[in-house]
Amino acid sequence: MVKQYGGGDMCGIIGYVGDRPALPILSRGLSNLEYRGYDSAGIALTGPELTVYKKSGEVSALQSILPKSTDHRQGIGHTRWSTHGPPTDENAHPHTDPSGRVAVVHNGIIENYEALREELVGNTFTSGTDTEVIAHLIAAELDGGAAPKAAVEAAVDRLDGTYGLVVTIAGVNELYATRQDSPLVVGHGTDGVFIGSDVTAFLEHTRDVSYLEDGDFAVLSEDGLTLYREGEPVEPVIERLEYEANAAEKSGYDHYMLKEIHEQPRALRQTISGRIDIDKGGVDIDIDLPDAYIDSIEEIQIVACGTSNYAGRYAASLLESVVDVRTTVEVASEYEFTGGRDPWRTLVVAVTQSGETADTLSAIRRAKRAGARTLAVTNTLGSTIVRETDDSVFIRAGPEIGVAATKTFASQVATLTLLAVSIGRTRGTLPYGEATELLESLRQLPNAVQSVLDREAAVKATADEYADSDAFFFIGRQLGRPVALEGALKLKEISYDHAEGFAAGELKHGPIALITESTPVLALLTTGTRPSETLNNVREVAARGAPVIGLATDSKGQSSSLDTELSVPETGMLEPLVANVYLQLFAYHVANKKGRSIDKPRNLAKSVTVE
Ligand code: M6R
Repeated sequence: MVKQYGGGDMCGIIGYVGDRPALPILSRGLSNLEYRGYDSAGIALTGPELTVYKKSGEVSALQSILPKSTDHRQGIGHTRWSTHGPPTDENAHPHTDPSGRVAVVHNGIIENYEALREELVGNTFTSGTDTEVIAHLIAAELDGGAAPKAAVEAAVDRLDGTYGLVVTIAGVNELYATRQDSPLVVGHGTDGVFIGSDVTAFLEHTRDVSYLEDGDFAVLSEDGLTLYREGEPVEPVIERLEYEANAAEKSGYDHYMLKEIHEQPRALRQTISGRIDIDKGGVDIDIDLPDAYIDSIEEIQIVACGTSNYAGRYAASLLESVVDVRTTVEVASEYEFTGGRDPWRTLVVAVTQSGETADTLSAIRRAKRAGARTLAVTNTLGSTIVRETDDSVFIRAGPEIGVAATKTFASQVATLTLLAVSIGRTRGTLPYGEATELLESLRQLPNAVQSVLDREAAVKATADEYADSDAFFFIGRQLGRPVALEGALKLKEISYDHAEGFAAGELKHGPIALITESTPVLALLTTGTRPSETLNNVREVAARGAPVIGLATDSKGQSSSLDTELSVPETGMLEPLVANVYLQLFAYHVANKKGRSIDKPRNLAKSVTVE
């Protein structure tokens, strides 16, 4: 058996054809896409012959071997995050056929690649990938006399599995692209046309985009996009993105993560903008859930991974209290649907920034098979989750590049709060007064977050003081608990320090054995976290020598047991969400002091599209 070193789906694709030099566009596009993978990268430039550059390592390693400039006006590029197999130069995309006429970049997994390889008797394969066989198949079709487009179509017809595929052929002024379960989006520029696995690939060049659907076949030339659906040309739908042209750049911050932490007030304003009607105590989040359906809901099940799961846990408490419906939250990879006699009355909510997380997609597919109604809460227009769920709500946080999710957590919780109010009002379980109180808290959220950001210097000083500690504990009750879990996740993923989040009351049942004077404890002591009970736990760890950093509601000086107190502006049930901004800054400054690779932490990728 041939070892298969597929790039999987966690990779970035960029393609360009037009009037401008292609090399800088492709190279820059790969830098922008690096958050999708950074194990190896490559570029193929198209002229009468193809010129291919490939390199293992980060995109900068590839860039160090690229020429300063070339005359090429067309090409494709790829940055890979290996799901299995070594990230070598040979396994980097683009992959070519033996004659070097055809180059292919691919996200996804070709399941029948072994059988296809066996058919291509006599061909020498230079990589261990499933992708290379595609280039060989296309070349074989060309050899058989097929025209370029027909050759690609015929090869694609032979593929089983998932793919977002872009092909370039020597001497042909067109790029060919198609997809099956792996996203591709076309960008319409004034001097050329772009294709990417997501819009960050080319956002600085154009905001006019067309999303490809599964089975679409796209031909890109200097004249623009020609789109075929079920074999027939169709007029592409062009959408204008609201993202600003420089949204994917660092805007002077040292890291995307820090930039995105600071973008939270703006992101939150976007999340709630136009969605709150304070006079009526209502919200309009533009979803198609009929009132009769909302009335009939028997259970809400939230499925999500990582930070999105913690956002779901936060929201579940709110949902349960304002909607008066049993609400469960499950890690998507563990999810099994359990519902009542009528599964449609269970609303399964997928929370996912990317909309492409494989575990979350699988969970949703399970729920759908069981007959449940599904709803996506996502940041990504045109993502797979949006296409596969019955309804979707956008969190409108703007592109998030840092692998560590920050602004999207805040916008997810805010969006789910809007959803809770919307459902609670329709069901009549949320009285007007309580609805306006929650909505007012939401309106105050951007300013409250800003005032925490304004205290960054204090957080940095605290982070500097404790950065050398052995381990960190985060404790909280009720709404403080998901925030404690999120705070610990953030710290561990970017600083590589041992960090754990606990239900504060559980410490004494075991974990307190780990507490020493070198384990700082960060405690949530705001509204919605039962601060007086948590203070008991603070005293317990303080008595064992642990330094305690308390995140406490403004104006309620909490306890002499705290070594450091960071005050949280009063925003009712959303205070823990505001406190989380302190934890984000704390994680960032600890990791920065240690010189970690903050935007690209080891072993992690932004979008986890394998199960
Ligand atoms: O795109 P998603 O929200 O579905 O991603 C889920 C997790 O992979 C993600 O939140 C991950 O935990 C982040 N790296 C955390 O910062």
